[in-house]
Amino acid sequence: MAGYKNILQIFMLQLIMVTIFSSQTQGQGLKVGFYTKSCPDAEKIVSKVISNVMAVAPSLSGALLRLHFHDCFIRGCDGSILLDSPNNQSEKFSIPNLSLRGYSVIDRVKLALENSCPGVVSCADIVALVARDVTVATMGPHWKVETGRRDGNVSLIAEPLDSVAGLPAFFDNITTLKQSFALRGLSVKDLVVLSGGHTLGVSHCSSFESRLYNFTGNGDTDPSMDPNYIIRLKRKCTPGDQTTLAELDPGSFKTFDDSYYRLVTKRRGLLTSDAALLDDPETKAYLVRATSRRSTFFKDFSESMVKMGRIGVITGSQGEVRKVCSRIN
Ligand code: HEM
Repeated sequence: MAGYKNILQIFMLQLIMVTIFSSQTQGQGLKVGFYTKSCPDAEKIVSKVISNVMAVAPSLSGALLRLHFHDCFIRGCDGSILLDSPNNQSEKFSIPNLSLRGYSVIDRVKLALENSCPGVVSCADIVALVARDVTVATMGPHWKVETGRRDGNVSLIAEPLDSVAGLPAFFDNITTLKQSFALRGLSVKDLVVLSGGHTLGVSHCSSFESRLYNFTGNGDTDPSMDPNYIIRLKRKCTPGDQTTLAELDPGSFKTFDDSYYRLVTKRRGLLTSDAALLDDPETKAYLVRATSRRSTFFKDFSESMVKMGRIGVITGSQGEVRKVCSRIN
């Protein structure tokens, strides 16, 4: 009898998990062209601001793509990453988010939209549209962004650091990375495809310093990294350096291309989490394929971004459309 009860419990638990996961990436209530009637020029307005910003500050492209990822992975894509709080207790003040940039660009887009269609376009949708537009601006793929997200009213400093449901970390191994994505209804393929976002942007030395100077606590280097690359990186990053930036995809960090996969394959992925993609047969096979003539990276990235953009969204009459992205109405 006890055995039967256990099986029933396991079954119920599985059912609950499946329900949570599938609702995570279904994105009910989202659709392409959600603002067609309520703010017909919404997407044009966003694109215009982004092309102006990219003309003067192209190095913000990576930062703006990353914002959408950090928004979606905590509480779903609800703009919670943008909220300020009186005592700096919201998500943006959490350690993994301290290196995020580009909030003022989101504010600029919001201002332009409020001028044309006050109170219509959510901040969460702005972040999603901007992520697409910076990808396009850097020669990456174009995809149709589903819109209709509403903005959430909760943002907590502790959540990005939660040991299970927090953001994946630069030191995570492949097992932990896969779990983190699975928890959001994202597949192993989504993991390797979305990691390709590291074709853009920069990282602080502190995010990979231990690989150069103190991998296991004995002053050693990470044996999984190309020793010549380690020498090069050591010239850039001295121990304890908190400010210097290194390109995630040196040589083309302002261009969205497949060279990130070339680097990782050559054991030149900058972060432990990049190198970890060599430790799983499926992700490893993708790395190799992505640099071949059979590459489907651009198409895959578009699809995975749509999937990521559906995580935990609130729609309909839930939440609100913020007037200012950094505070609730
Ligand atoms: C797989 C798990 C991931 C981990 C552990 C991770 C971790 C990191 C870290 C540590 C940095 C550098 C932060 C710094 O030191 O300044 C970074 C930068 C970046 N990440 Fe990720 N990331 C992941 C996935 C993603 C995804 C899914 C995307 C987007 C699709 C993305 C886009 C970026 C971009 C564009 C940058 C450069 C930001 C800039 O130039 O300011 N990352 N990531």
